[in-house]
Amino acid sequence: MQSKRNLLVTSALPYANGDIHIGHLVEYIQTDIWVRFQRLRGHKVTYVCGDDAHGTPVMLRARQEKLAPEQFIARMNDAHRADFALFDIGFSHYYTTHSPENQELCGDIFTRLQSGGHIATRDVEQYFDPVEGIFLPDRFIRGTCPNCKSPDQYGDSCEVCGKHYSPTELLDPRSAVSGSKPERRNSRHFFLKLNNFRDRLLELLKSGFVDEAIANKLREWFSDDLKDWDISRDAPFFGFEIPGHKDKYFYNWLDAPVGYLAALANFSKLSPAAVQDLWQDSDLEIYHFIGKDIVYFHALFWPAMLLGTGLRTPSRLCVHGHLTVNGEKMSKSRGTFISARHFAQYLDAQHLRYYFATRLTPGAADMDLNFEDFTARVNSELVGKLANLISRCAPMLIRLLDGHTGMPVVDALPMLADIRQAQEKIAAHYESRDYAAATRHICQLADRANKFVEDQAPWTLVKSDAEAARGVLTAALDAGRMLTVYLKPILPQFAQQVEKCLNLPPQKWESVEESMESHKINPFEHLTQRVDEKRILTMIEENKNQQPTAPAPAPSAVSAPAPAPVGEPLAPTCTIEQFAAIDLRVARVISAVDVVGTDKMLQLELDAGPLGKRTVFAGIKKAVKPESLPGRLVIFCANLAPRKMKFGTSEGMVLAAGPGGSDIFLLGVDAAASPGQRVH
Ligand code: MSP
Ligand code: ZN
Repeated sequence: MQSKRNLLVTSALPYANGDIHIGHLVEYIQTDIWVRFQRLRGHKVTYVCGDDAHGTPVMLRARQEKLAPEQFIARMNDAHRADFALFDIGFSHYYTTHSPENQELCGDIFTRLQSGGHIATRDVEQYFDPVEGIFLPDRFIRGTCPNCKSPDQYGDSCEVCGKHYSPTELLDPRSAVSGSKPERRNSRHFFLKLNNFRDRLLELLKSGFVDEAIANKLREWFSDDLKDWDISRDAPFFGFEIPGHKDKYFYNWLDAPVGYLAALANFSKLSPAAVQDLWQDSDLEIYHFIGKDIVYFHALFWPAMLLGTGLRTPSRLCVHGHLTVNGEKMSKSRGTFISARHFAQYLDAQHLRYYFATRLTPGAADMDLNFEDFTARVNSELVGKLANLISRCAPMLIRLLDGHTGMPVVDALPMLADIRQAQEKIAAHYESRDYAAATRHICQLADRANKFVEDQAPWTLVKSDAEAARGVLTAALDAGRMLTVYLKPILPQFAQQVEKCLNLPPQKWESVEESMESHKINPFEHLTQRVDEKRILTMIEENKNQQPTAPAPAPSAVSAPAPAPVGEPLAPTCTIEQFAAIDLRVARVISAVDVVGTDKMLQLELDAGPLGKRTVFAGIKKAVKPESLPGRLVIFCANLAPRKMKFGTSEGMVLAAGPGGSDIFLLGVDAAASPGQRVH
């Protein structure tokens, strides 16, 4: 075995303006499998990550939700942590870029870049939204393409003809935030002089820092001088103010990668100065796992920042491609833009880990989640081959032979030796991130073990020669045990269940060398279930009906009539379109308090799941005690235009039935419903 390695591993820091979705999970599952593999081999691994909390999109989302950005990102941080836990992503530490450590590190790095002569300043003309009072990032400007004249294109490139341009070339520009006509304004910006690092960056690309295919693509950038990189943004901006420059902020892509260091500092309880020494440790190997869309930032800008600061560059970038679902880009209307949380509600998170592993190869090729293939593979390989070996043989050993293993039969020895000997090959597949090859190899070995059991038929053999049957089952379970060790980086929970069932201590990679001789196993508990296709269809259907994560703009045209008290004449008929315009949702009451000075009103805080929290005033005080409400589900109208009342703004309306006064009943809702779900 190699000597113990010291590894620092990161996954890209997800933006704090949205939920974790299954596309993100490609990366976090890929990294986690690698980290678990290295740990299983006995190496020291620190795996850090955290939220990328700064920038205009986060600031605007917080505004929409009427929260301070700090409150908004704290809520997102909780949600992201919970989502990652569902998929067993075993970070050593999950932090945020909005931290004191990061602020200090960014300030320090900037000062050093400046004193090294790597920072330039000059005026930049940019679009400014006069209604929102902000400078607009390119993606927040829409207009007509100057090349092909297609309307409604982004500020930086046209989706129709593919042309890249500067936002000021766009015809008839509009702010995507307020719809207003943006103004051109000048402001002073700071730039990192990338060209100062030209030769060293080219050297780095030669050194195996990224795959050759990616290095070649990056080299295209070097055909001309490298352009200066704009690293500042103007107030108002959610981020870190540049020390000594009021109303100038670091662009969030400057502080994001520094966030890796900050997370490490916070985890290791080291000061920002001391963590740089740790980073410089020549024994430390540093790996960044990232998607192909952010290669420039990690292969050019980040190394340039490090070099300019006098810090070492990372050992390697591990770049993956993008996820498609059923052969197409994830899409909200097709129901395939699936959040991590939603997936785990309907399907087994371990199954996604397994499926992604079977599809992941070392390159940056895109990969497809095809749900038919997902079902077939999980059912035939994971359930039918791998789990099957143990779920068939362990109960048999218990039922027929007191749950005691013996010595493996001689006929099994070549098979067991082959499985044992596969360890270095499988380890090499993991090391090179070829999980597809690793799972293929493991499945072939499982086929062999299953065939052995089939051929030996211990259920018949036991009638004539009980000890021989015991020897067959011992060999089969030992094969199952070794294959479980090989699968452990991919399926940590499955491995734990197998360890429990076979009465084994937590297995390490080297446990493959041990055996299962003369050992008492535990009562069998089931390991994993087949994928139920109906649940996939329900998940996708349900997903089509979900609102986008960003709350839709308040619909001003829809004004729902106040509910008429029972006994009153029927209100004028409404059309199906009018009715369909009313968005009814399930919400859970977080808190309910008396509105002092009224005799009917309660102020409710509702948790509307993905729609966030809502404050709603409801005239139900006479009917219910406020203390009985927290935790209860209610139906509420989610798209009622917010209404200013004497005591505050009501952001929706809770539905109730009854003649009024003390006889008002909140509608009971199926307990399986979850906040945010649409009512049909
Ligand atoms: N905040 C930046 C990263 C800063 S790192 C210093 C960012 N965030 S992200 O949320 O958009 O993406 C996080 C990671 O998930 C990226 O590596 C990205 O490539 C990956 N993915 C996001 N969507 C993806 C797919 N649909 N498919 C595969 N990976 C995807 O970029
Ligand atoms: Zn165009």
